[in-house]
Amino acid sequence: MQTIYYDLRDTKGQQKEIEDKISAAAKILREGGLVGIPTETVYGLGADGCNPDAVRRIFEVKGRPQDNPLILHVTGPQWLPRYCVDISPVAYTLARKFWPGPLTMVLKRQPTVPDVTTAGLDTVGIRCPNHPVTLAILREAGMAIAAPSANTSGRPSCTTAQDVLEDVGGRVDMIVDGGPCTVGVESTVLDLTCEPPRLLRPGGLPVEDIERLIGHIDVDRAVTSSLAAGERPGAPGMKYRHYAPRAPVTVITGAPMNSAREIERRAGPSSGIICFDEFAHLFPEQLVRPLGPSSDKLIQAQRVFEALRGFDSTDVTEILAQCPDNRGLGLAIGNRLKKAAGFHIINADSQRIILGLTGGTGAGKTSALNALRDLGGQVIDCDAVYNEILEGSEEFKNAINVRFPGVFSQDGQLNRKKLGQEVFAKRERLDQLNSIVFHFLVPELERRVEAAEGLYAIDAINLFESGLDRLCDRTVAVTAPTELRVKRVMARDHISEQYARLRISAQKQDEYYRGKCDCELNNASESPEEFRKDARLFFERLIEAVQEEKRHG
Ligand code: TXA
Ligand code: MG
Repeated sequence: MQTIYYDLRDTKGQQKEIEDKISAAAKILREGGLVGIPTETVYGLGADGCNPDAVRRIFEVKGRPQDNPLILHVTGPQWLPRYCVDISPVAYTLARKFWPGPLTMVLKRQPTVPDVTTAGLDTVGIRCPNHPVTLAILREAGMAIAAPSANTSGRPSCTTAQDVLEDVGGRVDMIVDGGPCTVGVESTVLDLTCEPPRLLRPGGLPVEDIERLIGHIDVDRAVTSSLAAGERPGAPGMKYRHYAPRAPVTVITGAPMNSAREIERRAGPSSGIICFDEFAHLFPEQLVRPLGPSSDKLIQAQRVFEALRGFDSTDVTEILAQCPDNRGLGLAIGNRLKKAAGFHIINADSQRIILGLTGGTGAGKTSALNALRDLGGQVIDCDAVYNEILEGSEEFKNAINVRFPGVFSQDGQLNRKKLGQEVFAKRERLDQLNSIVFHFLVPELERRVEAAEGLYAIDAINLFESGLDRLCDRTVAVTAPTELRVKRVMARDHISEQYARLRISAQKQDEYYRGKCDCELNNASESPEEFRKDARLFFERLIEAVQEEKRHG
């Protein structure tokens, strides 16, 4: 298919010509064709929203998943009743204040809106774009235009007609060039079918502006974090990894000075950098796409997609992106960067504290960890993480299987007893198994704590052998008099005294942990509750000391 390209940027003295082109675009739409249209947010890929065949073509050309509904574009609030029912007064209040503009409202749909457009939902997203050319096309066509962003699925949105040509040229009937988008990020999507209304996607209209008018709104979890497998966001589109450049992206949040310094620490010669203008000089060796001044989020929004797209034609191997704070447009800009990064985020002014806990059986590690939980801490249980990665990694299984053939059954299940018998018979074998385990476990834990904030405890028997101690701000040995340990292990595991003594003597002794760790938490209490209280006091003091140290560098 040949794409007609209309440049309508220079409107001076050619009114008739422009009107003709607008009419031509409207005609194509009425006849079921596809038109790339300019809006203030990003370019759209438009078709007649009530023509199922035309809408189906949008999905084809974009390569868009069928379950992701489209937004209907209209000329103003007066068109709402044509496509929506149960329209609340709040919807009119919002439309009157913010339309034309970057706000999409999700409302109950009229049956006239076809299933393909709403991906089968009984609601429809609707907005009035603020662009003179597209408003003229809408008026002339006399129908709602269904339009997703004009990028092919998975790519950053298009903010110029050139981007559209690059992504879908040759597969649409017409592209109308209305100049670069003035907002630069997509519309804010607000669900008005619930109370309070819910933000489904942050965008060109800041949340604060909406709340000033209608009071508190809820924020969908998909806006700020990656979703767990199977978890469903309010806007189906938020579950996809949009805006993905070819090189992997890491987002660095925090005060601009801190995030700039963190990027400087991480950048290698083949890193691509997205940073605020004032820090660009820190990266003379690297390819830099400046995002705009740190104080100007309008410019950052206009540039964010261009910055992400800009690296695709280069050979950078990773992208490090400086991120604005969440206020105003920052929420939308940060969301686009974080989605591009698959929520791989590093907080440069993180206040996280990581404690490593270790010690022999019966000493009271479990109660100590509970004390940390009492203080709001999160516990990373290395055994559990080991099992999780083992479950999901063929490479990990293979590595074990190569060294210990036969420990996996036909269906890929690890026979732990058999593996145990093999490795506990010989020290050397245990070391070999450990080195395989550490090889997979340590990077995974590094990844988990890198993005973490607040208080974390790593629970690991092999804290030092694995090298995990290097991730910790402090390492803590939980120790206890042997006689008490024997009693506790007997009661806990319902075993004989002799066996309890054997188990304890087979492990490393308190001396070992005492020698290795930064500090010792000795448990001579008769009751776990009492120890939990002692431990809590101990940790409170320890955390204060670490915080103090962090404050003063
Ligand atoms: O600024 C914009 O909104 C641009 C321009 C072209 O108007 N359009 C745009 O469309 O960004 P698209 O399709 O790329 O993103 C629409 C988002 C998706 O996340 C989609 O899941 C969500 O809005 N959405 C649409 N209809 C919905 C509905 N009925 N319920 C929940 N979410 C909806
Ligand atoms: Mg999109």
